[in-house]
Amino acid sequence: MTPDLKVTIAGVEFANPIMTASGCCGYGEELAQMFPLKKLGALVTKSITQEPRLGHPPPRTAETSSGMLNAIGLANVGVDQFIVDKMPFLRSSGTRIIVNVAGSSLKEYVEVCARLNDCEGVDMVELNISCPNVDEGGMEFGSDPRLTEKVVSAARKVFSRPLIAKLSPNVTSIEKIAQAAEQGGADALSLINSLVGTAIDINTWRPRLTNNRGGLTGPAIKPVALAKVDAVFNCCRLPIIGIGGISCVEDVVEFILCGATAVEIGTALFVEPTVPVTIVDGLKKYLKRKKLSSITDLLGKVRKY
Ligand SMILES: Cc1cc2nc3c(=O)[nH]c(=O)nc-3n(C[C@H](O)[C@H](O)[C@H](O)COP(=O)(O)O)c2cc1C
Repeated sequence: MTPDLKVTIAGVEFANPIMTASGCCGYGEELAQMFPLKKLGALVTKSITQEPRLGHPPPRTAETSSGMLNAIGLANVGVDQFIVDKMPFLRSSGTRIIVNVAGSSLKEYVEVCARLNDCEGVDMVELNISCPNVDEGGMEFGSDPRLTEKVVSAARKVFSRPLIAKLSPNVTSIEKIAQAAEQGGADALSLINSLVGTAIDINTWRPRLTNNRGGLTGPAIKPVALAKVDAVFNCCRLPIIGIGGISCVEDVVEFILCGATAVEIGTALFVEPTVPVTIVDGLKKYLKRKKLSSITDLLGKVRKY
């Protein structure tokens, strides 16, 4: 018997728990040249803002010995062009579509969510309240519990489908932020966004990113992400989407054991764009080997000391 990979979050069923992470495959067009997107549980888009944004000037990515730094600065086409130019393709892709939303003010989050509420094919919105690479907004909303609750409940009022709050690890207590998002009416949580970091060119003495700082991602952040998922799973009732350094089946199993219902894959896509397909196939083999009929049998089953 083939093990069942289906998972359900806030009443929405996903074919499997493997999603792409925001900002790591744009709006899906290029990834679709590598494999049929319907093989994914969901595609999460680049953060969408009200107006188009060019982002920071290059260099805006830098490789380090322990992960990737980026400070893209939320470059995106803006919500109007996204709906007209990008959604028709995404709607026909055969996978669930989660639109990531960012803003520099409460009003911007609300206006973008309201536009997306009228857009067919948007299965969920993921609120990016954790971007470390912008001057205004972003992480500010995700590092103060009162602001988190405020932005989530404001988005909740205008977006009638499930709402995910994406949390930052760059906070004193991710548990308090998670509880505030739950209080504000979030249906699920995704974590983690990138860890603030930097790197310096020793010849020019200049930072290797024009933004001076960026977000660290990739395998180096996985242990941090896993500990945050475990912490949030133990203090909050909302379903969790685990993110951070995932690049193989074993990583996914670790996240699910710690309490993630699904996962998003980011930096690993830059190394091997077909990695989600390899992981989906590997998960089936893992479940068979463990004689389990469903991926949900693993959820939160870590045997702690
Ligand atoms: C180049 C790049 C761009 C990103 N852009 C966004 C973004 O627009 N919105 C967002 O919420 N997260 C963004 N992220 C963060 C990822 O979605 C993810 O949370 C993070 O990379 C950790 O996962 P990973 O280690 O698998 O990459 C970006 C990450 C990278 C590497």
